[in-house]
Amino acid sequence: MVSHIENGEIKHFSANSCLMPICGVFGKAVTTVEGIGSVAKNRLHPVQERLAKAHGSQCGFCTPGFVMAMYALLRNNPNPTVADINLGLQGNLCRCTGYRPILEAFYSFAVDENGTLKVSEDNTCGMGENCCKNKKSNGASCGGSEDVTPGYTGGERKRKIQLSDLSDCKPYDPTQELIFPPELKLHGYETMSFAYDHHHTKWYQPVEYDDLLSLKRELPHARLISGNSELAIELKFRFIDLPAVINPRQVRKLHERHLEENGVYMGTGMSLTDMDNYAVQLVKELPKDQTGVLKHVHEMLHWFAGIHVRNVASVAGNIATASPISDLNPIWMASNAQVVLDSEARGEKKVHIDEKFFLGYRKTVIQPDEIIKAVIVPLLTKNEHFAAYKQAQRREDDIAIVTGAFLVDLDPESSIVKSIRISYGGMAPTTKLALSTMEKLKGLKWSQEFLDKALGLLSDELKLPAGVPGGMSQYRLSLALSFFFKFFLEVSKKLNLTEIQYLEEDMKIGQDVPETLYATQLYQEVNANQPAHDPLGRPIKHVSGDKHTTGEAVYCDDINVADCQHIAFVLSPIAHGTLNSIDYTAALELDGVIGYLDASDVTTGAQMGHHSDTPVFVKDKITFHGQPIAAIVATDHELARKAASLVKLDYSQEKPIVTIKQALAAESFVFKHFVIHSSLNDNETVVKNDWSKYDRVVEGEIDMGGQEHFYLETQQCLVIPHEDDELEIIISNQCINDVQIEVAKCLGMAQHKIQTKVKRIGGGFGGKESTGAILAVPASLAAKKFGKPMKIKFERFDDMAITGTRHPFTLQYKLAVDENGKFIDLDYTALSNSGHTIDLSMGVMQRAMVHADNVYKFANADITGKMCKTNLASNTAFRGFGGPQGMFGTEIMVKHVAEQFGLDHDEIRVKNFYQEGDCTPFGMHLNQCNVARTWEECRANSDYDKRLEQVRKFNENNKFRKRGIYLTPTRFGIGFGLKQLNQAGALVLVYTDGSVLVSHGGMEMGQGLHTKILQIAARCLEIPIERVHIHDTSTDKVPNASATAASVGSDMNGLAVQDACRQIMERLAPFKKLNPDGKWDDWVKAAYVERVSLSASGFGIIHHEPVDFFNGKGAELFGYSVYGTACCEVEVDCLTGDHHLLRTDIVMDVGESLNPAIDIGQIEGAFIQGYGLFTMEEIKIRPDGIRLTRGPGNYKIPSADDAPRHFNVSLLGNSSNKMGIFSSKAIGEPPLFLGSCAFFAIREAVRAYRIQNGNSDYFAFHSPSTPERIRMACEDFVTSHVPPLPEEGSYTPWTTSV
Ligand SMILES: Cc1cc2nc3c(=O)[nH]c(=O)nc-3n(C[C@H](O)[C@H](O)[C@H](O)COP(=O)(O)OP(=O)(O)OC[C@H]3O[C@@H](n4cnc5c(N)ncnc54)[C@H](O)[C@@H]3O)c2cc1C
Ligand code: FES
Repeated sequence: MVSHIENGEIKHFSANSCLMPICGVFGKAVTTVEGIGSVAKNRLHPVQERLAKAHGSQCGFCTPGFVMAMYALLRNNPNPTVADINLGLQGNLCRCTGYRPILEAFYSFAVDENGTLKVSEDNTCGMGENCCKNKKSNGASCGGSEDVTPGYTGGERKRKIQLSDLSDCKPYDPTQELIFPPELKLHGYETMSFAYDHHHTKWYQPVEYDDLLSLKRELPHARLISGNSELAIELKFRFIDLPAVINPRQVRKLHERHLEENGVYMGTGMSLTDMDNYAVQLVKELPKDQTGVLKHVHEMLHWFAGIHVRNVASVAGNIATASPISDLNPIWMASNAQVVLDSEARGEKKVHIDEKFFLGYRKTVIQPDEIIKAVIVPLLTKNEHFAAYKQAQRREDDIAIVTGAFLVDLDPESSIVKSIRISYGGMAPTTKLALSTMEKLKGLKWSQEFLDKALGLLSDELKLPAGVPGGMSQYRLSLALSFFFKFFLEVSKKLNLTEIQYLEEDMKIGQDVPETLYATQLYQEVNANQPAHDPLGRPIKHVSGDKHTTGEAVYCDDINVADCQHIAFVLSPIAHGTLNSIDYTAALELDGVIGYLDASDVTTGAQMGHHSDTPVFVKDKITFHGQPIAAIVATDHELARKAASLVKLDYSQEKPIVTIKQALAAESFVFKHFVIHSSLNDNETVVKNDWSKYDRVVEGEIDMGGQEHFYLETQQCLVIPHEDDELEIIISNQCINDVQIEVAKCLGMAQHKIQTKVKRIGGGFGGKESTGAILAVPASLAAKKFGKPMKIKFERFDDMAITGTRHPFTLQYKLAVDENGKFIDLDYTALSNSGHTIDLSMGVMQRAMVHADNVYKFANADITGKMCKTNLASNTAFRGFGGPQGMFGTEIMVKHVAEQFGLDHDEIRVKNFYQEGDCTPFGMHLNQCNVARTWEECRANSDYDKRLEQVRKFNENNKFRKRGIYLTPTRFGIGFGLKQLNQAGALVLVYTDGSVLVSHGGMEMGQGLHTKILQIAARCLEIPIERVHIHDTSTDKVPNASATAASVGSDMNGLAVQDACRQIMERLAPFKKLNPDGKWDDWVKAAYVERVSLSASGFGIIHHEPVDFFNGKGAELFGYSVYGTACCEVEVDCLTGDHHLLRTDIVMDVGESLNPAIDIGQIEGAFIQGYGLFTMEEIKIRPDGIRLTRGPGNYKIPSADDAPRHFNVSLLGNSSNKMGIFSSKAIGEPPLFLGSCAFFAIREAVRAYRIQNGNSDYFAFHSPSTPERIRMACEDFVTSHVPPLPEEGSYTPWTTSV
């Protein structure tokens, strides 16, 4: 948060530290998360306290950002509304939590008009009519407990709604906040001009307007740095040299704002937030018909970046950048706004932002010595009508795909168009006026024919070539036309032109999204007889929760050692080819560069990976874009990056294989194919049924895209060389054992010389399972070569290029059903895009295959898996590990059967559900098969049947908005696919003061593993949890630990800890017997005196039986399965492809939960991650294998705005798991597939639109359901104006579906 004095008043605003130049805060006060509260000092700020208490952090990496966003909001507005809070969180992302607990914590600061807290016990229940309160005779609050499930195996338990009770949190008292530093007030540094030299860049900060103009005359090529939100990106990624920059923000004259005769003058010193506030003020003060443009500026700014960017960014920066996808430039162009340009040489002039203003891609008429002084926003006349629209991949904080702005001057009597201005962003290399259409529409009557003509003209004028940069040529044109249609209807409605079709249609979606949060978490409370100190089964908060909120939690990059050097990779700019030579000359000339590393440094000649197929550095063959070719070592990270960018590569290029289709054609696979034949479970031979005898067969193919892990902490590693050739490796990784093995292999060392450790990881999700060697091996090589500690940290941009993603899949199926929809015979082929090496593709494929049945019994099933080798980064583990891909194809089949044969999809499901004891195609018998229970409970909790009817009615009554509601079940098998991985170790040390240190092989990455392990240890040792501690995970405490993956972290490590604790308790037993009235500390001391060992190593294994994937013979692969069902309701804007997730209900079977707070957090987080996977996260790769999606700018994960405001999670009651530690079930991965429920609900809405337009056939709807896919599936009179794509192969598309 930045604080400063403006007009004598102290103002605070949030800002992104990565965009804020340090000189830009000269004289201002900066508050970071460390400054507002501290665990060490036993003083948490109310924002921190509530967030931790509401279980609002998991890995904790995003948490300081959320805390500061909320803190900055409260400092300006101690009584925010829910809408204020939503706005305040724009731009903050969390990849773990699913946002619900964060919103719940922060909404507790919100007040209604009476000043009372918005979130209270009475209005948070999302169960609606099913709220337990309504079922209680006394109508008591649902925050209390309710008796359920008598006869429950663990004794009688209570069901409780509401995970966290914030009522005992400290009230927020603004008077207790930090004061503005008096010395800043006193000296007024902020109002002083200065110049500052640093790193070859001179920073000028004038305060007088004339000085600014003089500077610009003297230094015409100096860049102005207003908000730095554009320039920072250029500096970061293009390494441009800036000899001089001028910060104009302190020039008071640039902050002027006033009304002029025909418009509103806004100085460009204003931030976009200031501009927004001024626009809102004027909309309130001025006559309504004048303020159309201002109103739309305000509306557009809501969707422009996030609040932390808008707090610093300027309108001048936006105009000067001249981005073709700027959100404001179309508004300025359509409204005929002006800019005031000024220069010392030629003085001030006003220029219209019109077709002559933007000269080309990112070029304007502004001269080097000119500044943009102000923008003049027109006020409208009575007969002018204005509107603007934007569509992005994600609604909030995303750059536009297309923005449209429209101004029409209509004669009120004749409805003749006197003039019309139509402007678009995203339709050309510059913001574009549709000049020809505008000219031809002038003088025409505003009518139904006018619309048809306008759509035709716009289609002709705006048509994009099929391979247009940015891609989506058809969608972009559809959007441009749809926006015009929306404008047409809006104006017609305003004028009440009753002859116009669809006048009664309400086009705005999401109107029913509740203002606040209606969320319920239903779980079973522990038995009343459980001792108070026994934490097991209780919803205790994450053991690092408080530290996450204060920034005191330590991650890999927080660890600093003396004389540490930094490494940056030189990456391949092509996907396939041969490296001829590398020239380091320019890089080595930079001061501070100490050397380089390349393939010649790998003297063992070893390669990385389980299959030793991944070169550390390219030797000759380049196999993917982003492949490490060499590395530069330098004294700091930025210098190393810059030097790496100067390395010259000489290579020859070859045609890459990028897609599954291309790999199939070239027979390019990473390994031989796998098979499963269900008939082998009963016979010795594969039963091949005669398909011609079936009457009802569906056959199809569906694609499912990959997914970037987007852990908030990118991959990091620090290697410290020690005596005796030892290496200490601190790494942000899920499998330190693999890191140790790979470093030992590639450096030719013994494993015992390498200590690998991790304290916590800022999110992993599988992306840090097999990838650690990519960092650790080069860093270890460099540490040895240069004899110094080495740090390597990936920029997001590089992390997304170097490491793989969730595997994209194509799923081919042929399914025979009987007349009732019962599944008879299945032929299913899963094809994965594995990338350039094997990595974990075999395991991923096997899991896809053993989940291809999802929750359904197939009389006969033959399943094949083919792993395609392509020139992409090696695709890898991702939460679900192929399971979601396998199940997705199955659920598509269910839809295909239902739609082809006119059956009810829910009935098909129920008819085919597995029953207790059924055998899967891969030979596992399902015990305690709870799929039907979760289904029925979810159906009832969500009020599905009633709401389905309401959705049907809604769809009958709305033409362009459609809703869909859907139920999706899931089953997930628990255990690693490889036998030896299903083991874990632990070390429990008891000290003479009675304190206990537990070490185990699992890594804490936000999933709450350490918290659960502490609960287990406390239960086993019968001591309070506070007596037990975990330092970190390290290979010198527990050797040979499996990756923390496959959801079995607490199952396996819990067993190992339990085993170690059992040994300790057995040794203490005689002392307890001797001193029954004694306490833990007495027994420990007595054992010590008697020379009894107080440490034990434990070991645990979980069930595994290998399936023979080469011959297709099944086995009892997993110990157990986890079941769940979700219900989602969505609303879709069929004209734009936008959607809102209105409500989600989930029932999940977690057995007897070890910690309901953590389990529910995992369910919500996995659901939202799955929701992102299936609806908005789209990896974009060019046909030549160049990866385009390499950062948050173009890869969109769900934001807080996307999380459903009606979000209920219920843990299935009366489920106990004899195969799990303390009867619990694993939870990390199983709920992820439930995110597909939103996809299918969207598909239902799209289908309703298609049926309305006369198309009721089954349609292949691939995942993710991006706005583009939704809109293009919603074929209608608008899309009929969009020309078809030319024949495949006749053009090069911008991106390709891999
Ligand atoms: C996370 C993020 C999200 C974004 N989202 C959006 C979005 O949704 N929509 C959108 O349109 N843009 C978006 N942007 C782009 C950017 O924020 C805007 O273009 C912003 O308005 C730039 O303003 P600035 O003050 O930060 O520019 P700066 O980075 O300070 O400057 C950009 C350019 O403008 C020039 N300049 C600055 N001030 C002046 C002046 N007074 N006179 C002449 N030239 C000047 C500079 O020399 C420089 O070349 C986003 C950027 C980020 C980082
Ligand atoms: S807790 Fe938010 S990213 Fe991990």
